[in-house]
Amino acid sequence: MALDPARNLRPAGDDRTPAARCAPCIATPGALIMFPTMRTLAIANHKGGVGKTATARELGGLLASGGRRVLLVDADPQAALTAACGVDGEAGGNLADVIRGAVDMAAILRELRPGLSLAPASMALAGAELGLATHRGRENVLRRALASVGERFGLALLDTHPGLGLLTVGALAAADGVLIPTQPQGADLRALALFLQTVDNVRAELNPGLAVLGILPTFYDRRLTHHSAALAAMRAAGLPLLSVTIGRTVRIAEAMAAGLSLAEYDPGNPQAAAYRELAGVVTTWLESNPT
Ligand SMILES: Nc1ncnc2c1ncn2[C@@H]1O[C@H](COP(=O)(O)OP(=O)(O)OP(=O)(O)O)[C@@H](O)[C@H]1O
Ligand SMILES: [Mg+2]
Repeated sequence: MALDPARNLRPAGDDRTPAARCAPCIATPGALIMFPTMRTLAIANHKGGVGKTATARELGGLLASGGRRVLLVDADPQAALTAACGVDGEAGGNLADVIRGAVDMAAILRELRPGLSLAPASMALAGAELGLATHRGRENVLRRALASVGERFGLALLDTHPGLGLLTVGALAAADGVLIPTQPQGADLRALALFLQTVDNVRAELNPGLAVLGILPTFYDRRLTHHSAALAAMRAAGLPLLSVTIGRTVRIAEAMAAGLSLAEYDPGNPQAAAYRELAGVVTTWLESNPT
């Protein structure tokens, strides 16, 4: 069976256990081929409206098209990612049921298309998050839920809500990396530094392996001097700025309203190309950080 590196070094359609999968690979002389388990990338910023959900939606579609088995996780009671996937989170189980311990993660998954699944949310997730407050080991509830389906996916992308509630902390506790979309505004610099401090705290107390994939400028317009000045200030402050920027386009909102990714809705859009570049950055990160 031929190996396809684009599928996390796992052949397409191969659902065997890791041990069974490894047998033929170890037999290849001189080749030690690893089969990584699921990696988890949180998309987070405590500021609202910075493109977290749009970024999760695009990356999910693009990385699945690239051959990875991707799980989108809507960890936001606003359920915007769920809607952007054309799914009704109120119909059937959703992440609120998992957080409350009523059902397993596997029971709520919806396959959007081959290689791309969604753990949907609904407004009930807000109540489930409140319930976590008195739960022992509350920071690890999401991590355990993800681990229970880790064999089925190469990558989980977690969309988080604005603010630093227990769900966001739980997402950071569960993640191998965090991607931080941000609008290029001067006032965001201090907020960003505070958010990175939170990431440091989570790393120190809950998740030593948490990496910062980078800060992703969104709604970026290079013609606006205050935008380029904001990026220069972030660089000067030593913040981990990605070189990819996402510009503004109304097509993103239209695509999300239609339950589609931008790549599906308007593949020739320059921002679809920018997101493809971002998917390349994520792919490089995945491949340079094997489990
Ligand atoms: N690059 C973009 N250009 C124009 N509009 C965008 C862009 N990215 C996202 N949007 C739109 O801006 C709004 C906010 O984006 P999005 O929902 O992705 O932000 P968010 O950070 O997830 O917000 P929240 O903090 O409320 O969860 C949405 O209507 C979305 O369709
Ligand atoms: Mg959102």
